[in-house]
Amino acid sequence: MCGIIGCIGRGGETLDTLVHGLENLEYRGYDSAGVAVGGDDLGVRKTSGKIEQLREMLDSDPVSGTVGIGHTRWSTHGPPTDENAHPHQDCTGGVAVVHNGIIENYQSLRDDLTAAGHTFTSDTDTEVVPHLIEEELDRGATPEEAFRTAVGQLEGSYAIAAIIDGTDALFAARNDSPLVIGVGLDAEGTGTIDVTEGPYFIASDVPAFREFTARVIYLEDGEFARFDDGITVTDAEGTQVEKAVETIEWDAEETGKSGYDHYMLKEINEQPRALRQCLRARVDELGSSVDIDTVGDLSPSGLQFVACGTSYHAALYGARLFEQAGIPARAYLASEYATSPPPIGDDLVVGITQSGETADTLSALREAKRRGAETLAVTNTVGSTATRECDHALYIRSGPEIGVAATKTFAGQLAALNLFALATAEDSQTRRSVIPALRDLPGDIQSVLDNSTAAEIAEQYADAESFFFIGRRYQYPVALEGALKLKEISYEHAEGFAAGELKHGPLALVTDQTPVFALVVGDGEIARKTVGNIKEVEARDAPVVAVTDGQSDAELYADHVLEIPETHPRAAALLTNVQLQLVAYHVANNLGRPIDKPRNLAKSVTVE
Ligand code: AGP
Repeated sequence: MCGIIGCIGRGGETLDTLVHGLENLEYRGYDSAGVAVGGDDLGVRKTSGKIEQLREMLDSDPVSGTVGIGHTRWSTHGPPTDENAHPHQDCTGGVAVVHNGIIENYQSLRDDLTAAGHTFTSDTDTEVVPHLIEEELDRGATPEEAFRTAVGQLEGSYAIAAIIDGTDALFAARNDSPLVIGVGLDAEGTGTIDVTEGPYFIASDVPAFREFTARVIYLEDGEFARFDDGITVTDAEGTQVEKAVETIEWDAEETGKSGYDHYMLKEINEQPRALRQCLRARVDELGSSVDIDTVGDLSPSGLQFVACGTSYHAALYGARLFEQAGIPARAYLASEYATSPPPIGDDLVVGITQSGETADTLSALREAKRRGAETLAVTNTVGSTATRECDHALYIRSGPEIGVAATKTFAGQLAALNLFALATAEDSQTRRSVIPALRDLPGDIQSVLDNSTAAEIAEQYADAESFFFIGRRYQYPVALEGALKLKEISYEHAEGFAAGELKHGPLALVTDQTPVFALVVGDGEIARKTVGNIKEVEARDAPVVAVTDGQSDAELYADHVLEIPETHPRAAALLTNVQLQLVAYHVANNLGRPIDKPRNLAKSVTVE
């Protein structure tokens, strides 16, 4: 969840390129930041706090060089202090290293290095790496050999970039942590690497350098890269590997805020477009067929969904779709899956992960694969670890999501899961009723965005003691998601419940200080029962906000209404969810929270 950037071949713009890349990556971690530049003299500047503090430091105490690395940190070992900020250096100051991941054997390496006379200045696991490189250089190894031998001693997950004093080169290696290479300036096309087409970039994520180039090379686990006046990629044994250059299809503008105050609000508003992209060329005009080449041939007899956080809520929704189609399906929290693995049989194991890099989800998928299961990744990130390790991939096509709070990718996950169920498990009658509703979703979401009164409700209740969300069936995962969204960005207490569960305990928490958001869709049995639950909380004086299509009499018992258009209950989940996203956003905004970078959280959680 830390962000890494490195570049070579940017001449006098090296430092600017690094700091700018860090700003683009700040969503990956933001408790400290630093850069190292070299070529001739190696210089390091780093500080706890945000990138703007690093900029201020560089303004008053600049460094320059022709090759460099940078890092924005989300702490795993040691608090966010200046000392623990990356890059880390060896005893001589001639080696600088940035790292994302966790080095599991760092304590024993550190003990050995300390015994050999090395002095450590931080609490981090990363600091062993420059000292290991120093050891090898002292033994007479070349810089590249020293880097390879040092990395070869590490156990755990890492994306590492290093520069070494007096060497106009950059070294990188990955294992279990993403690293992507950028090639050239604004170049187009595909093919094998042309070594004359620098500059080169290395980063934990494409937005770091997207404004410079669309051409990328994904490093695989166990691979090393050396950058000088070309790129050489080698495997763990040192054999050169031919790598394909791929072209990213989204532009740098898509990662900017486009006039919105926050990425989260921009991304909430991007949902109509994201869903159009998700559905494009996958559903036909008549609503009778779904065509997804990557999963169309699957016919699962049972499914196990594994996911975390928001993606777990999508997993709960996905399991409901398949159960409804008569296929056994269950959602598991990925972090629990490996500790108590269920029988797998012939089940397809589906990892839902927008980033494709969540360590808990990858670990659950690996456990399933180890036990012989076929695996599918439902993800937003082409080239992510999940897509490379799973047998199949279903892309949600939401475009880059920068806000730590997942919004448009949750919508994309629900839409893609609908397509998946329709393509593999459901009959033509279901297809004819669901596909038109999916096709209407972009317009229906736009209408919710245009007419929502969530901002006023949020203003009225921003100081509430707690917020509760209730829903049944497809609205139950949305209730959980509404609560997660609100707590992660507003820091206010919020809980989501299956509406029928309230009376089994949580009702004791309900008072006139706890607004209850009730999700009520349609006019059938489910809506009728949820209206019954509204009456229960109303009798305890709780303010009730009905998020509803108006078909039931929920409005009669509610203090406020957030309206959604009438549609199929499966599609309605995406509409009620938009209202709850807006509530969370406006509550957090009223409270002045740093919405895109909530405390203690990071966009991509690459440790277990
Ligand atoms: C969502 O708002 C959260 N930031 C978080 O729960 C997230 O959904 C979770 O960490 C899983 O991420 P993934 O989809 O990238 O695997």
